Amino acid sequence: MNTDRIHAANIPAHIGIIMDGNGRWAKKRGQLRTQGHLEGLSRAKAIVQTASDMGIRYLTLYAFSTENWKRAAEEVSFIMGLVKQYLRSEFAFFRKNHIRIRHAGDMETLPPDIAGEIRGVCAETAAFPGLQVVLALNYGGRNELVRAVKRIVQEHTAAEHITEGCIGARLDNPDVPDPDLIIRTAGEFRTSNFLLWEAAYAEYYISDKLWPDWSAEDLAEAIRAYGNRDRRFGGVQQ
Ligand code: FPP
Repeated sequence: MNTDRIHAANIPAHIGIIMDGNGRWAKKRGQLRTQGHLEGLSRAKAIVQTASDMGIRYLTLYAFSTENWKRAAEEVSFIMGLVKQYLRSEFAFFRKNHIRIRHAGDMETLPPDIAGEIRGVCAETAAFPGLQVVLALNYGGRNELVRAVKRIVQEHTAAEHITEGCIGARLDNPDVPDPDLIIRTAGEFRTSNFLLWEAAYAEYYISDKLWPDWSAEDLAEAIRAYGNRDRRFGGVQQ
């Protein structure tokens, strides 16, 4: 991978990826959509390794949205099975690379075995000091905000105490910094309910390539493009 032109200061602390195009990748080859997800998982593994090697601190992967339950039951259970298998079989890899696994999304409405697997790997990797991979599974930005508001109401928070900080502190991973860069593959220009609150000042990068065709070099290219952006956070250039 050519990382020559990436200056350390230009490496984003937190990257979010909307891994889109698995179905189209499979269809182009006359294969089942599930084959696309299998290939997508293999890309996800490779990108986690690259992100870890590059020294990225946080990587949020959008693996399954709160809307994805509308898909055929076989496809849903295939994706859930892949996630379970990935979390189980990669523990040695997480330990070797000091990778911490976290979760974003609604735990309560996940199948209990998947929720249990996620809780287990999150606990077992909690002290690992390297890359933090946030698995967005059964995640929706609106759902996350609804759950945050419920907590605020349950705590009887007075209106004058409701601030951006108060809401931010009740999101799924309050200590994870907002994403700097959000990548979407397969050429779609949509946020699809991903990190709605957290992405307020994120830079977006859209790649035409389908997720199973993505490589370490594509990640490096996205980071180079990010390094050329002028981030003003609503202010003016100094
Ligand atoms: C979007 O492509 C992809 C998904 C909804 C599933 C993504 C899941 C994985 C890559 C496997 C699990 C990942 C991890 C990190 C454990 P699509 O099916 O919407 O593609 P299409 O738009 O071409 O139909």
